Amino acid sequence: MGAILVTGGAGYIGSHTTKLLLKKGYEVVIYDTLELGHRQVLNHLPGAKFVQGDIGDGSLIASTIQENQIDSVIHFAAYASVPDSVADPVKYYQNNIVKTLALLDAINSQGVKHVLFSSSAATFGETKYVPIDEQHPQFPTNPYGQTKLDAEHILHWYDVAFGIKSISLRYFCAAGADPEGELGEDHTPETHMIPLTLFAALGRRPSIKMFGSDYPTPDGTGIRDYVHVTDLGQAHVLGLEALKNGAETTAYNLGNGKGYSVKEVIETGRKVTGREIVAESAPRRPGDPAELIASSAKIERELGWKPQFGDLPTIMRTAYEWFEKHPNGYEG
Ligand SMILES: NC(=O)c1ccc[n+]([C@@H]2O[C@H](COP(=O)([O-])OP(=O)(O)OC[C@H]3O[C@@H](n4cnc5c(N)ncnc54)[C@H](O)[C@@H]3O)[C@@H](O)[C@H]2O)c1
Repeated sequence: MGAILVTGGAGYIGSHTTKLLLKKGYEVVIYDTLELGHRQVLNHLPGAKFVQGDIGDGSLIASTIQENQIDSVIHFAAYASVPDSVADPVKYYQNNIVKTLALLDAINSQGVKHVLFSSSAATFGETKYVPIDEQHPQFPTNPYGQTKLDAEHILHWYDVAFGIKSISLRYFCAAGADPEGELGEDHTPETHMIPLTLFAALGRRPSIKMFGSDYPTPDGTGIRDYVHVTDLGQAHVLGLEALKNGAETTAYNLGNGKGYSVKEVIETGRKVTGREIVAESAPRRPGDPAELIASSAKIERELGWKPQFGDLPTIMRTAYEWFEKHPNGYEG
């Protein structure tokens, strides 16, 4: 069995996935610049090898593949902020497309044939219907989503030309923390709903902003599908096994199939933490759809994926426990 190269493995979803891969007995090489990731995750991932490098450095990728007998790559490394991508699209095309091409060329030069790719619900753009299945039209409304969709297309053509088989996993809103409390979410700046709600509970922020209270939803606030980061990790393990067993190139949506409104997230935050959370109404943000709910029926049917930590209180409790113990993230 060859080793697995995990690009972006020092980040949030990559570190949680690596933990599961190690438990399954895989050899893992984490490859990360540490620009947005954390060296401290390595303390909780004993056995994982670490190479500090950029996915744009094709020769370092090629030598890392050779030296470690890599036979599969899980590609998490990317920039992932929607507003940042609107402000600076070039940065997103450089990192998420140009450097992904360098990575794929290096992979191809070394004869690696299996790639799992972190795609996103942002590839769908405006919601036409819910739940969103894999046939839903993909017209991204921001550069971030566009780079993820372009990378899916590039992977398709790498299969046609070079026989590289890939699975694109389109995550909806990743949330929660390692149920064993070793790993968590530490993004700077933090932009995600669940961490920001819990920061308000912990006094790390004065309040949580609710962007839009006039959406056509039961309580007027936007609805999102939150999926636990460990359940996402499990989907990668299944995807990897499928590729090793000869799966064809495909894409899967990953969510819980259940949406929660902004108000429901805040109310659940109050219950889970037992603390006051001040919520402030703010205008809608451009480009935010009213409702994003995934259909994960395809991955459930084809790969047997079943979320273990799907309910919102569990997602928020695991996140809260980590934030409570790590007031400064991995720094302490
Ligand atoms: N967090 C979410 O809700 C979500 C939803 C959908 C898709 N995704 C995708 O999942 C992936 C992981 O997201 P995350 O939340 O764990 O992000 P993260 O920022 O925590 O992790 C990304 C990691 O990639 C590294 N990295 C970035 N550019 C690199 C480069 N050029 N070379 C090497 N390393 C580089 C960063 O240092 C970081 O450790 C991303 O591709 C993101 O687009 C995330």
